[in-house]
Amino acid sequence: MNEHVNPIINDQFYTDEMAKSMWDKAFFVNFIDANLLIDFGCADGAMLGFIARNFPGIKLVGYDNDQEMLDRARMRNPGNPSKPILYTSDWAEVAAIVNAHQAKGGKAALSLASVVHEIKMYLKGKDLQKVMDQIWGQDGVVFDFIAFRDMMVSEHASRPAHPNHVARVRQVFGKMRDGRKRLSDWEKQWGSISENWSLIHFFLTYRYVDNWERELRENYLPTPYEDFLASIPNEYIPIYKDHYTLPFLYQEVDNTFGIQLADPTHLKLVLKLRRDLKK
Ligand SMILES: C[S@@+](CC[C@H](N)C(=O)[O-])C[C@H]1O[C@@H](n2cnc3c(N)ncnc32)[C@H](O)[C@@H]1O
Repeated sequence: MNEHVNPIINDQFYTDEMAKSMWDKAFFVNFIDANLLIDFGCADGAMLGFIARNFPGIKLVGYDNDQEMLDRARMRNPGNPSKPILYTSDWAEVAAIVNAHQAKGGKAALSLASVVHEIKMYLKGKDLQKVMDQIWGQDGVVFDFIAFRDMMVSEHASRPAHPNHVARVRQVFGKMRDGRKRLSDWEKQWGSISENWSLIHFFLTYRYVDNWERELRENYLPTPYEDFLASIPNEYIPIYKDHYTLPFLYQEVDNTFGIQLADPTHLKLVLKLRRDLKK
């Protein structure tokens, strides 16, 4: 985590919120025929611990650049005694494990849950390219499967928002403690919620009151859905794709504002490598 940029103030809330969507995050296990899984941006290892408990046959590696998160992962989600989860911030170590596994005929999968938007938000230029090369196998480690799950909105969401929805949000926030200020800070950063893309972005953010200063600055939607799909290298084919409205978010927005979110907010995608296809 880039805590030098934006410290996470209430770590426990953040971690608990992430844990709620565990089943949704591990959706890809059904679709990958691999017995080695690398979780890129594993944080406290909650998803890996969940997979270790339910699928003890898969060798698991957690990769993250936040040492504090890795320490927490080692304590909370060590894996099974006969198959401990390896946690590392060293990509060279990940590469060596994947290459050795594939040299013995095994297949390897990479999972990225709620991490692509962080990478694209915090990294620029060569740093961003380096990480994208790691993901897409341009640095010598080629994954047989890649699973993504992240917030992602279609370019078709860029349109005027429904005026009733905008009015409702202003009403509800007007009655909340600090609500008016929070909404106005948010609009200064991201533009008026009368633009539908901004309104969706706001819905993805507004619940994180304790970490508000951090969330306010975080761009949850750095890449439109269409651009992301177009960036997938030729040799990967989608074997599962679901662009959907996160049920938990739908309920929260309905409960808080009486608005039924109509736009898809999240993407789940599993890609399979076709080794017979040339780049
Ligand atoms: C929003 S959290 C998601 C955690 C977990 N995958 C989940 O879905 O609950 C993003 C994680 O990715 C890690 N991360 C962000 N950028 C990274 C990078 N360039 N390299 C490694 N880890 C990164 C962060 O430290 C953080 O733990």
